[in-house]
Amino acid sequence: NTKVWKINSIQTEGSSDDLDEAAQLLKAHETVAFPTETVYGLGADATCEQAVDKIFQAKGRPADNPLIVHVASKQKIEDLVTVIPPVAEKLIEQCMPGPLTIVLESNGSCAANVTAGLSTVAIRMPDHPVANALLKACDLPLAAPSANRSGRPSPTEAEHVYQDLNGRVSGIVDGGPTGVGVESTVVDCTSEVPIILRPGGLTKEEIESVVGEVMVDPALASDRDKPKSPGMKYKHYEPEAPLWLVNGSDDFFIQQLRELEQQGKRVGVIASTQFINKIEDANALSVGSRKDLKEVAVNLYKALRHFKKADVDVILCEAFPNEGVGEAIMNRLQKAASSQLDEF
Ligand code: TXA
Ligand code: MG
Repeated sequence: NTKVWKINSIQTEGSSDDLDEAAQLLKAHETVAFPTETVYGLGADATCEQAVDKIFQAKGRPADNPLIVHVASKQKIEDLVTVIPPVAEKLIEQCMPGPLTIVLESNGSCAANVTAGLSTVAIRMPDHPVANALLKACDLPLAAPSANRSGRPSPTEAEHVYQDLNGRVSGIVDGGPTGVGVESTVVDCTSEVPIILRPGGLTKEEIESVVGEVMVDPALASDRDKPKSPGMKYKHYEPEAPLWLVNGSDDFFIQQLRELEQQGKRVGVIASTQFINKIEDANALSVGSRKDLKEVAVNLYKALRHFKKADVDVILCEAFPNEGVGEAIMNRLQKAASSQLDEF
């Protein structure tokens, strides 16, 4: 069965007995979920094919979707790649640890299923005391995708991991709610100009301020192109009831809501506090101020897990500005949505 350890505080030196037990399981090629500053990850020894296979089994993840490898220092990045190009060097110096993943040429140190047969490997240094204590305690590079069942919203609390993976993984380290709320930004650093493959917690502007010119994978903006990041082609983040994204004014949103209610539909609403204050519906959940997209990111995945199939027929969700961390928010909402209601 799945063991859960609650971690209350981490001493800067050394680690707790609970983390040592989790680290021992990882060394014994088992799977353990742990918090990072973005979302919870499901970790396993990235150098061991059987250990990594347990991640794919537990999540029900397609084998062609590669995993991110987590490390605690720059030295450990060097151990996994052929070369660190200047652009990656800058990103490591200025943005790591943090909500950033860089894709580099692999030197083959990781198990083949980590990279799903690609010549590149995705690497990230989490900015979370529990993640770092665990990485140090096991002294392994940890392959860790988000710790949800494939297709479900990513977990921002240990409870979400438990809902999805109890009985399917060896342990869950509960370090409380994560901070950023959306996953890391994935940046391909193997080309001259780096390419954002997945928008995330670190914004495009923040990356540009470090490396200058940045491109965005054209597949992010269209359904036709094949994404360079294999995971981006899958449907993701699905709530239990169908989610419709509402793109328009508050009046338009209210009109859509009332129409559905008149049809006898039970409607759940996910929106900003500004909108929620205008409607007085019991079934409405605020994700924060529309003027503070970081706050919206923090609360987004919990909101996507909130409404249960038995209670609502449809979820209406506000569309947020596509800027800053809003790019990640809208990328996830577009994947979560089964349709979109546009005013114009
Ligand atoms: O914040 C995060 O990144 C979280 C925490 C746990 O670190 N992890 C996470 O992992 O979101 P996951 O597996 O849910 O998403 C990994 C993404 C996928 O879109 C995958 O296709 C992409 O990274 N990826 C992994 N390796 C790649 C590679 N070599 N080239 C391109 N994309 C890659
Ligand atoms: Mg994921």
